[in-house]
Amino acid sequence: MINKIFVAGAGLMGGGIAQVCAQAGYEVTIRDLTEELIEKGLRSVRWSVGKFVEKGKVQGTVDEIMGRITVTTDLSAAASADFVFEAVVEDLKIKRQLFAELDSICPPYAVFASNTSAIPITKIAEVTGRKAQFLGAHFFSPVPMMRIVELIRTSETSEETIILVEEICQSLEKETIRVNRDVAGFALNRINYPSSVEAIRLIEAGVVSVEDVDKGMRLGFGRPMGPFETSDMAGLDVAYNAYRAVYEDTGDEKFRPPEIFRKKVERGELGRKTGIGWYRYDENGKKLGPADLPE
Ligand SMILES: NC(=O)c1ccc[n+]([C@@H]2O[C@H](COP(=O)([O-])OP(=O)(O)OC[C@H]3O[C@@H](n4cnc5c(N)ncnc54)[C@H](O)[C@@H]3O)[C@@H](O)[C@H]2O)c1
Repeated sequence: MINKIFVAGAGLMGGGIAQVCAQAGYEVTIRDLTEELIEKGLRSVRWSVGKFVEKGKVQGTVDEIMGRITVTTDLSAAASADFVFEAVVEDLKIKRQLFAELDSICPPYAVFASNTSAIPITKIAEVTGRKAQFLGAHFFSPVPMMRIVELIRTSETSEETIILVEEICQSLEKETIRVNRDVAGFALNRINYPSSVEAIRLIEAGVVSVEDVDKGMRLGFGRPMGPFETSDMAGLDVAYNAYRAVYEDTGDEKFRPPEIFRKKVERGELGRKTGIGWYRYDENGKKLGPADLPE
């Protein structure tokens, strides 16, 4: 029986996962590195819970839902967790270090799930002594809105673990799909990344503008957002590291992040969170227009 969920990372994804878990009635603990990061994360969660309550999409008041969330900078708070969702930065070394520590802190029955966008789950799970209870649970952004979770099994993940996580996701009102082999980028990003890489190459070559790609992909393919709008929401650093992980694993050129993308990340133009990415935003997050492209 899963009651206590520990979420590592209070960023865009960790906050969203904590929110849907609290809305579904779980007791949630969120951990990040500093009080400031946690406060920032919690403010977004409270705002989003407010929207769900206002629209009558969830049971209870904002305070009741937020009351199920505890925050901490102390990893030892995971000692009573039944389940861990990891949503820290897309960096294999950091994820491995975190899970090695969690493995020694959490009860032996606790199940671990990583929300990595692209890193093979096996490379993360291998630092733990609970490989049968380890899987990838890849949520999509914004978590409270997007209905799908991709579940990735390694060669050692047990069927019991997959079924348990399918049930948890169902309780969060999410649909799931199973990815039966642990390849970098899994299924959905493997399908999506080459088209996003091609979009960047086309703007790099001056064939089409950022705005026209997004407009075209929205109206022509029925997507709610175009690839550049999506990248600005996800964070260019997060997306860049995920593309790199797939490129490094496969060596396949179709996943290689173009130069212009690397330069944007180096400049700190990371999307909505820094006020500038492929587009510029004002302090209220209103889109102002396309940003300059690096030479
Ligand atoms: N952004 C997206 O659209 C998206 C979609 C699906 C999956 N993901 C994946 O989810 C994960 C998180 O992405 P995000 O967009 O939320 O990133 P983010 O940068 O918004 O948040 C990451 C948070 O993790 C924290 N952190 C770093 N080390 C930590 C540790 N040891 N313990 C606890 N917290 C720690 C950071 O301080 C930061 O607040 C990444 O693996 C990413 O690839 C992201």
